[in-house]
Amino acid sequence: MTQSLADMRRDYTRDGLSEAQAPTEPFTLFRQWFDDALHTEQLPVEPNAMTLATVDAEGRPHCRVLLLKGLDQLGFTFFSNYDSAKGEQLVARPYAAMTFFWPALERQVRIEGRVERVTADESDAYFQVRPLGSRLGAWASPQSRVIRDRTELEALLTETEQRFLDQAPHCPPHWGGYRLLPERIEFWQGRASRLHDRLNYRLQADGLWQRERLAP
Ligand SMILES: Cc1cc2nc3c(=O)[nH]c(=O)nc-3n(C[C@H](O)[C@H](O)[C@H](O)COP(=O)(O)O)c2cc1C
Repeated sequence: MTQSLADMRRDYTRDGLSEAQAPTEPFTLFRQWFDDALHTEQLPVEPNAMTLATVDAEGRPHCRVLLLKGLDQLGFTFFSNYDSAKGEQLVARPYAAMTFFWPALERQVRIEGRVERVTADESDAYFQVRPLGSRLGAWASPQSRVIRDRTELEALLTETEQRFLDQAPHCPPHWGGYRLLPERIEFWQGRASRLHDRLNYRLQADGLWQRERLAP
């Protein structure tokens, strides 16, 4: 290692986040920050990449990177294999947390809440706009299962290609979308000397959002 981990640090001075800039609900600010990320983060960073954390039946956490594929007034949508490890975890414990990190902007957003499957029509609509290779892959790959080697995966793909020679692949029953219905959304803006800005939105029983500042 050329640099010791203990010596790696960066001071954040790019921006701030004040209550005056923050709307009364979090969706507008998320869209604004996402738009900033789209225009600021350099390729190959994918601004819609986030870390999704789930817990299994024993309460052990698991996290992995996924792509956000939709945002509406209900919540944040992503797509995956329903039979995958995360799919099983979401059956056992239908709650998740997602974290976006946009380093060029020195920003982090944390979103937590209950997760539901989207409707079959919504999954199908998104499945149909995916490239053919991804659609075939969704049929071919038993996501999160142990496979012998790469050859087994390639054989599964060849089998799938044969099956769909004369017909376009439709959305598999084991594949589709999830929507995280947020109960908490926190916006973190890095500031100098680790005195960062953290504005946290909490959904209340009356459906309104409570905004509060958290200590960094
Ligand atoms: C940049 C990036 C984007 C990814 N996007 C997705 C995605 O949208 N859906 C998905 O199922 N897996 C995606 N993956 C793969 C997941 O990280 C993970 O390997 C897979 O979903 C299996 O996770 P699980 O075994 O915990 O269920 C992505 C990985 C990376 C690095």
